[in-house]
Amino acid sequence: MRANTAVLCAICALPSFVAAQVSQQPPTLTWPEPTPGMFTLSNFTFSTGDHLSNLTLHYQTLGTLQTHANGSTNAVLLLHGSTGEAAQFYVDEFAGTLFNRGQTLDVSKYYLIIPDMIGHGNSSKPSNTGLRGKFPKYQYSDMVAANHALLTQHLGVQHLRLVLGVSMGGMHTWMMGQQYPKLMDALFPIACLPTQIAGQNRLWRKFIIELITSDPAWKDGEYTSPPLVSLSGTLSLLQVMFSSAVDYYAKYPTRAAMDAFVDDYLLPHIPDFDANDQLFAWNASYTYNAEPGLRLIEAPLTAVNTADDLMNPPEPQILQWSVAKMKRGVGKAVVIPVSNETFGHGTYIKASVWKNELEMLLAATSGGE
Ligand SMILES: *[C@@H]1O[C@H](CO)[C@@H](O)[C@H](O)[C@H]1NC(C)=O
Ligand SMILES: *[C@@H]1O[C@H](CO)[C@@H](O)[C@H](O)[C@H]1NC(C)=O
Ligand SMILES: *[C@@H]1O[C@H](CO)[C@@H](O)[C@H](O)[C@H]1NC(C)=O
Ligand SMILES: *[C@@H]1O[C@H](CO)[C@@H](O)[C@H](O)[C@H]1NC(C)=O
Ligand SMILES: *[C@@H]1O[C@H](CO)[C@@H](O)[C@H](O)[C@H]1NC(C)=O
Ligand SMILES: *[C@@H]1O[C@H](CO)[C@@H](O)[C@H](O)[C@H]1NC(C)=O
Repeated sequence: MRANTAVLCAICALPSFVAAQVSQQPPTLTWPEPTPGMFTLSNFTFSTGDHLSNLTLHYQTLGTLQTHANGSTNAVLLLHGSTGEAAQFYVDEFAGTLFNRGQTLDVSKYYLIIPDMIGHGNSSKPSNTGLRGKFPKYQYSDMVAANHALLTQHLGVQHLRLVLGVSMGGMHTWMMGQQYPKLMDALFPIACLPTQIAGQNRLWRKFIIELITSDPAWKDGEYTSPPLVSLSGTLSLLQVMFSSAVDYYAKYPTRAAMDAFVDDYLLPHIPDFDANDQLFAWNASYTYNAEPGLRLIEAPLTAVNTADDLMNPPEPQILQWSVAKMKRGVGKAVVIPVSNETFGHGTYIKASVWKNELEMLLAATSGGE
């Protein structure tokens, strides 16, 4: 029953471009039940100078926190991607592959903390606060600061065994390693780069921002029915950026098959998305740049990308030269070749593809599990 709810959530609540990549079948695996929680920050000040008198963060935990006399803990912070939420991890490919007894992030050993970040899931966002287009223009730095407050002020976690983030969460992992270099024993960013959002990765984000803000139906965020033209443009761009050539030729080998996916699955779900939430989430990377601070990172870091990730393509070799700029021996860059196991950017959710690298990182570092 629980597992079915989780997959329903994965398909209904998650962006179609993520849900489409993972199993659309009911899950076959199970995983331990998370405990939900909520933390309200008073008068939170954003990087823009805006304030919210109550910024609410929802989060989930699994396992029990252990803090040792030497300060080490068994706490692991898991960070979701843009427009995702904690619930995106509850699929066979992630929770069913990592969280059970004997698996890499066995919750009888580790204490997992999975926040819904600012602007995402059940945490404060444009669509659930009534602020809509007037919601503060939050940036990654605000999300990192709020998550740090959640850990240290609310959960009593002063040290982390591991930070593991996917996509946007991976970019936050690079940021946390520099902002709080003593906070964690190990860092594992997946499907991202530390450099500012530039080139191709800025192109489609800029298109999304222009599409929505220039759509008369958006009405400065005060629409009463969804601005469907710009929302369709947004989700179509995302679908392209999440696709991968090998995977899509295998899954949709005919024109009819590809069209059927768009007509029967993608288009009908467009009104489920909120244009303000999309706009604010895709603009949140505006000020992101973890490149200048690479040498501040002290905790061993393994960064994993796949060669078919259109958002973080391997050709410019950014991951390799970024890791080469870090302190000697701290970073490791892994680019997983295209195979039948990879499916573009969203491969971050398929733990079987990268979990051997995570196991090596955990074995090479020590903590309090
Ligand atoms: C909120 O914080 C700002 C400083 O960040 C301060 O100027 C303002 O007075 C505070 N508001 C309240 C209601 O405490
Ligand atoms: C913020 O939360 C406090 C305490 O629950 C409440 O008294 C106040 O009305 C809230 N402010 C807003 C603007 O919702
Ligand atoms: C800290 O203490 C725990 C529990 O005694 C131990 O397992 C761990 O190895 C220690 N960690 C370090 C870094 O000394
Ligand atoms: C969390 O958000 C989901 C939709 O993403 C909603 O179905 C659910 O009711 C929310 N839960 C809480 C506790 O607000
Ligand atoms: C994007 O974020 C930047 C930095 O906060 C802000 O200056 C800009 O107005 C935002 N753009 C939109 C369309 O929200
Ligand atoms: C990948 O899948 C194709 C089609 O199912 C198959 O022919 C091929 O052998 C597979 N390759 C590998 C390396 O498994």
